[in-house]
Amino acid sequence: MCGIVGYIGKNDTTKILLDGLKELEYRGYDSAGIAVLGDDKIDVFKALGKLHNLEEKVNASSSRDYELGIGHTRWATHGQPTELNAHPHLGEYSYVVHNGIIENYKELKEELINLGHKFVSQTDTEVIVHLFENYNNKLNDTTKAFHNTIDRLEGAFSILLITKADPSKIFFFKHGSPLIVANGKDENEVLFASSDAPLIGLANDVVYLEDGVGGIASAEGIEFFNDNYSWATLPTSKQFAQKDGFRFFMEKEIYEQSDVVSDCMLGRLNDDEILFDEIDKSLIDGINEIKICACGTSYHSGLTASYLFERLSKVKCNVEIASEFRYKDPLLTKDTLFIVISQSGETADTLEALKMAKAAGLKTLVICNVDNSSMTRTADATILTRAGIEKGVASTKAFTTQTVVLWMLALYFGKANNIIEKDKLQKELRALREVPKSLIIDDAMHEKTKRLSKRYLHGHGFFFIGRDVFFPLALEGALKLKEISYLHAEGYPAGEMKHGPIALADPELFTIALMPQNLLYDKIKSNVEELSARDSTICSISPLDFDLSDDFIKINETDHYMLEFFEMLIALQLLSMEISVRLGNDVDMPRNLAKSVTVE
Ligand code: F6R
Repeated sequence: MCGIVGYIGKNDTTKILLDGLKELEYRGYDSAGIAVLGDDKIDVFKALGKLHNLEEKVNASSSRDYELGIGHTRWATHGQPTELNAHPHLGEYSYVVHNGIIENYKELKEELINLGHKFVSQTDTEVIVHLFENYNNKLNDTTKAFHNTIDRLEGAFSILLITKADPSKIFFFKHGSPLIVANGKDENEVLFASSDAPLIGLANDVVYLEDGVGGIASAEGIEFFNDNYSWATLPTSKQFAQKDGFRFFMEKEIYEQSDVVSDCMLGRLNDDEILFDEIDKSLIDGINEIKICACGTSYHSGLTASYLFERLSKVKCNVEIASEFRYKDPLLTKDTLFIVISQSGETADTLEALKMAKAAGLKTLVICNVDNSSMTRTADATILTRAGIEKGVASTKAFTTQTVVLWMLALYFGKANNIIEKDKLQKELRALREVPKSLIIDDAMHEKTKRLSKRYLHGHGFFFIGRDVFFPLALEGALKLKEISYLHAEGYPAGEMKHGPIALADPELFTIALMPQNLLYDKIKSNVEELSARDSTICSISPLDFDLSDDFIKINETDHYMLEFFEMLIALQLLSMEISVRLGNDVDMPRNLAKSVTVE
């Protein structure tokens, strides 16, 4: 996820900006840059890769005194990680850094190109600075030009902008992505950052900007555009700040899911269709079958997608674990679209499966969180999940965004092949829009999982059961518990229990039953009754209370099973985490596991 810093003051501007960016490194990035202004001149430095590359460039230049500057670490979303695509972005005489996604950048870019503006990057961000200059050229008023610019932007945008037309100021605005403004400890000092960590030690009082709040900062002070702001005190611990106040990165990432899913859908969810700029219609022409390959959690999102593809787009879809696929002499036909799913884009088995499919002449697509990874460089097309860096070894937000992308892709296929009816598509799009809301964590649910964890850590084994898409969700719930609690857990299709596993049922065998109201409720209910009759301890996760369950995690009533899916996912992630916490395990770095598995 991208990071922003900004500085106005008498101290060493480049150092403060670079130090600030270092504090944001943990969020992940693939390029970085700063623009610094002094003596009415703006110098800009950009570099690919790690921050020391940028630092070397800055140190190599003959340094001047700079009065202010802005900086950015970029995690590629629109356009490759290249120096041209790195922020700050230049117009003729202004620079901007931006976090978020401008949904209407294509229309704006076209308009500005027609007006004679020259674009050099592939990013959505660049439109901001051209739009600003376009207004300023006409109005000769930087404040009005900034307001007019903001009014034209759609999507998510937290922005810092500097301009030679008004060289003592930083213009700022927050909409969507976080942005903080602070009074520095020294006199006449103003700082900006997209999270607390860069500000600790340099400022005491900060404003965590609300959406729709912006202003203009200079050495004379900060002028806000409206009254919707209040001053707060900064936390003092950097570790705490990096985790945004959460105990673990995993917890932070669970809580982030609502936001990253919004980012993931930005610009892709239209009034009556799904849009993917990154794929060409030719990718799906002539495709009669989809084969998905992945490992671990990514495999579970693939398995979920297989139900969605067949249901919504009537395309045959099968899913394979990449390590199995590789050595089975798979039959591959050219009317198959080969999709790999990977958070890291580096998992050895998945990468190898992708290479095999390419060698066999299949069209290939990767759904990935890391641009410029081995898989995105290999596949014919990439859809980025925009989850931001995932630090917890146990995957959470990567799964959620993968599943949302695949659900959108199933609808894209359904529409492109004229399979899905208009009303049905509308219903699905409505449900997709509700996903961020379904991922907002209710305190009561988190509390409940904390309380349950007290008893559930004593189980000698766990079954997670579900039907349809809730079967892969059960697999994912079991995997989360195994990974961080080290307790034995299995995910099972609920209807299969009576074909063997039910023999294990006893009071210390805990069954986590996923009981959606909107999909096969009666079927799963009878499966759970069978287990209850054999004295298994049952925790049901459902919108509906169920007499026979010992424990109950309530989710909201909705009108779509996928909304139940995502709310249940949150409950499963929190339950595993709370059990792990009680067992005293390392939640973020469980034993024996690595974040990226680059060996077979
Ligand atoms: C589970 C987990 C792993 C990964 C798997 C694939 O929490 O993180 O099971 O999902 O190693 O990794 P990617 O998605 O990077 O290919």
